[in-house]
Amino acid sequence: MDSTQGRRPTAHAGDQGTADADAEQFWERHYGTRRAWPAHVNPLLAETAAPLRPGAALDLGCGPGGDAIWLAQQGWHVTAVDISTTAVERVRERARDLGVADRVVTEQHDLASSFPAGQFDLVSAQYFHTPFSLSRGRVLRTAAGALRPDGLLLIVDHGSTAPWSWNQDPDIHYPTPTEIAAELELDPAHWSVRRAEMPRRRATGPAGETATVIDNVLLVQRRDPPMTA
Ligand SMILES: C[S@@+](CC[C@H](N)C(=O)[O-])C[C@H]1O[C@@H](n2cnc3c(N)ncnc32)[C@H](O)[C@@H]1O
Repeated sequence: MDSTQGRRPTAHAGDQGTADADAEQFWERHYGTRRAWPAHVNPLLAETAAPLRPGAALDLGCGPGGDAIWLAQQGWHVTAVDISTTAVERVRERARDLGVADRVVTEQHDLASSFPAGQFDLVSAQYFHTPFSLSRGRVLRTAAGALRPDGLLLIVDHGSTAPWSWNQDPDIHYPTPTEIAAELELDPAHWSVRRAEMPRRRATGPAGETATVIDNVLLVQRRDPPMTA
């Protein structure tokens, strides 16, 4: 099978979610009508993954694919997933153009109702935000369950609103790393929190404007079950 072939979603066992056509249309319009957004790796993903030995990675809500392509360039085998067909097609084309097509699989999923198959050493959810109702906690718990022993789940959320963001709702609440960790409902006997922080960084918007923004970062690691005597 061509590993760069886009795959359609497959429902996963026990999934109670429902696909949301409005959400799919929203994100399809978002990627279909806008000028090509420069697809750079997100700095907190690069910082986290750079010291790791490359393995299998899953990029949830990959968008135009800056992270997926960067990971592939570092030697990772990446599954890049998004609700937008245009986004995953763009990732596939970029992977081909940049010579990493053999390390990038793209799959279109509405993660509300389906999840990619496989086991991963790294699952990354970078700014996995949507204006639509989505049981993000359930998606992220499924993601945690798809990790191999010692695997890492990196969640980087917005912690503040950039001036160029599509979401300028003044009442928005960005879950803190502690709140995200609580949503994951992870058994501390099998999981450790490696990082829970809210760092600031200087970010650049689509027109080149800059602003200081906050990121909410949670990194958890799956641990081997303790040995029993
Ligand atoms: C704010 S963007 C972040 C994109 C990318 N990770 C980045 O850092 O630039 C959120 C992404 O999640 C995707 N997304 C939103 N809802 C989704 C869903 N239910 N299933 C899969 N992807 C979804 C969107 O299409 C979009 O690409």
